[in-house]
Amino acid sequence: MTKMTKMTSNPFDARGVANPKYFANRGNLLDFFRENVMSCSKSKITRPDNIAIIGNWGVGKTSTLYKFRDILYNEMENDVSAFSVIFPLKPSVCINADTFASSLLDTLSKHYSVSMPLKNRVKDVIKEESKVWEKWRLEISFNPKLQRKEEKEEACRNVDLTNALLALWRKLEDNGIDIGVIMLDDIHYLLTEGWKGSLYDLRTDIQTLSAEGAKYLFVFTGPTFSYPEIHEIGEPFTRLFEKFEIGNFDFEGTKEVIEKPLLTEDLNIKISDEVIKRIYDLTEGHPFFIVYIMRDLIKKIKDDVADIEDFDKLYNYIIEHLTQTKFHDDFNKASDAERELLLKISELNKEVFSPSDIKGRSQTKLFERLTKKDLLIKIQRGRYKLCHPLFLEYLTRMNSL
Ligand SMILES: Nc1ncnc2c1ncn2[C@@H]1O[C@H](COP(=O)(O)OP(=O)(O)OP(=O)(O)O)[C@@H](O)[C@H]1O
Ligand SMILES: [Mg+2]
Repeated sequence: MTKMTKMTSNPFDARGVANPKYFANRGNLLDFFRENVMSCSKSKITRPDNIAIIGNWGVGKTSTLYKFRDILYNEMENDVSAFSVIFPLKPSVCINADTFASSLLDTLSKHYSVSMPLKNRVKDVIKEESKVWEKWRLEISFNPKLQRKEEKEEACRNVDLTNALLALWRKLEDNGIDIGVIMLDDIHYLLTEGWKGSLYDLRTDIQTLSAEGAKYLFVFTGPTFSYPEIHEIGEPFTRLFEKFEIGNFDFEGTKEVIEKPLLTEDLNIKISDEVIKRIYDLTEGHPFFIVYIMRDLIKKIKDDVADIEDFDKLYNYIIEHLTQTKFHDDFNKASDAERELLLKISELNKEVFSPSDIKGRSQTKLFERLTKKDLLIKIQRGRYKLCHPLFLEYLTRMNSL
């Protein structure tokens, strides 16, 4: 019987964001969010504390935003009337202020035109406002100046994001909404691909909205490497946010990532503590790898108990699979010169290294590029680590081929 269950349900999926039902750990951050939302919605005076979530690749930044949304709509639905939007930044939406503003508004209206556990009148408000936004969008797409790159930056101040959000807020407030949560995922694209002064513009918008009494809570996420840069360039921007750095899980967190989906789905599968410890040691508590390994383990185990012997038998398969998918793709993302550097790094036998450890001409630029591709992690100025010890294992294998 368990065999059938196993074949049909595998709650682990490292490719998408974590299902909020399975979301593990991060108690401090979630509590901060809950209390923040609660205190703002219960008082006319309290302004929201904006939140910055900083962390390396695959550590759960986007998953946290989905968890926030779930908290608003499912956990607190009886206490708070909230609306929220998750806006994933990508290079193409950051090219100028107009595209950014209209894409954000577009995401908002699309989000609410599909299923939302919100009162109909809120849906109606957004629908009404989005007629105006749509008109802007059309104007932008017919603006010939936008075709010429050099004129882009000056030409793009047609969409007034602040006023659009302010008008929206006024109507939502009239309809009994306590708070609006606007989440910007991967804000570093504004830094790398954005128009000049984008962070300052955003800061001004956020400050104006707050001064006008609009109850918007802004959340942004960004990779750790970008934070010093964002801080340096947009210092007044970072001052608007309470910063939370999220990292790998400890043993207890790892255990929760492993056990929560099994418990939630009532799957009668027992993973021994020894196996959990082994997974923790292998992954160093990195959420993506824990979930990745668990998916394979659930797929392959023969009965409803996974002990260390089972795990050892599957170890080669798991590493091989990880290698063929994740690491191979990662390695292929790198240019020839970058690959050569990665292989040299794997020969250093050092956990932490710097460009000066590599002989020959300066490699600093390559180190920076590999960091942007999430293959290296910058710990501090001039000091780096490989993105994960399992990646070192892969590189070592490549070296010996
Ligand atoms: N708190 C958590 N509980 C359970 N699983 C998690 C948690 N956080 C992350 N994960 C798992 O880790 C994987 C990566 O998460 P996510 O995509 O949210 O990370 P990210 O930081 O946004 O990554 P990227 O830098 O690539 O944008 C997901 O597949 C998810 O299953
Ligand atoms: Mg993400």
